[in-house]
Amino acid sequence: MRLKDKVAIVTGAASGIGAEVARVFASEGAKVALVDRDPIAASPAGALMFQGDVSDSAFATKTVAEVMKAWGRLDVVLTAAGMSVGKKLLETTEEEWDRVFAVNAKGTFLWLKATLPPMIASGGGSMITVASQIPLSGGRNTASYASSKGAVIALTKSVALDYAEDKIRVNALAPGAIDTPFLHRSFKRAADSAAARQASIDRHPMKRFGTVEEVAKAALFLASDDSSFTTGSVLMVEGGWNAG
Ligand SMILES: NC(=O)c1ccc[n+]([C@@H]2O[C@H](COP(=O)([O-])OP(=O)(O)OC[C@H]3O[C@@H](n4cnc5c(N)ncnc54)[C@H](O)[C@@H]3O)[C@@H](O)[C@H]2O)c1
Repeated sequence: MRLKDKVAIVTGAASGIGAEVARVFASEGAKVALVDRDPIAASPAGALMFQGDVSDSAFATKTVAEVMKAWGRLDVVLTAAGMSVGKKLLETTEEEWDRVFAVNAKGTFLWLKATLPPMIASGGGSMITVASQIPLSGGRNTASYASSKGAVIALTKSVALDYAEDKIRVNALAPGAIDTPFLHRSFKRAADSAAARQASIDRHPMKRFGTVEEVAKAALFLASDDSSFTTGSVLMVEGGWNAG
């Protein structure tokens, strides 16, 4: 039980990576609060659930207040809520750019900001953002998404520096292509979905997609005391995407 008696908030917990992280955190003894825009169909026993938009600051502060009221402490936050529109620069509208940044970048900023004071009051904790392998390599047809995830990495490192002495560790996960609904939506947007899928597999030196289980194991490492001397890092879970 690597998270026994810990309290964790997971955004984007209705699907994919966030859903698996919530399951693993709970199985390791954490009390979990799940946040998503969509209804959350599967949840660990005893979980609290909050439905809303992560880019809404009032929703963030209200949710964190309710978690503190229920459980009286906060040890871990993981921000997995995210979205993409695909598209190259010239095809990306201003509204799309703003929406992608609102969910991915502001939706991380707001949840780190809302969770930081109770986490400091709890004696410290672990913040885990979900970036991507893409900002480190650049990516085709994904200008706004890649940029927003670059912002997440910069935010992660900056918050790690500012609050290290408050015993707050802040790290980013950088998944490669992970087999989730998000990934399959991205292939559906391509003119030739099968070719896009194969090109993505081939781009990974390991020649396969990652799984949500592989990302959740990395998240567990960052959430637990196993990573007690790790902060401001970007943990790649991307099958070697950026190695070559
Ligand atoms: N799947 C991949 O290949 C991959 C690769 C790198 C990074 N990521 C990142 O991992 C994270 C999780 O992605 P996933 O693959 O599990 O996707 P997913 O679509 O399966 O899950 C994302 C969840 O976020 C929720 N969400 C989206 N916008 C929201 C909003 N405004 N407010 C509240 N909830 C919102 C969705 O409802 C969904 O439940 C995302 O940040 C994504 O950018 C995914």
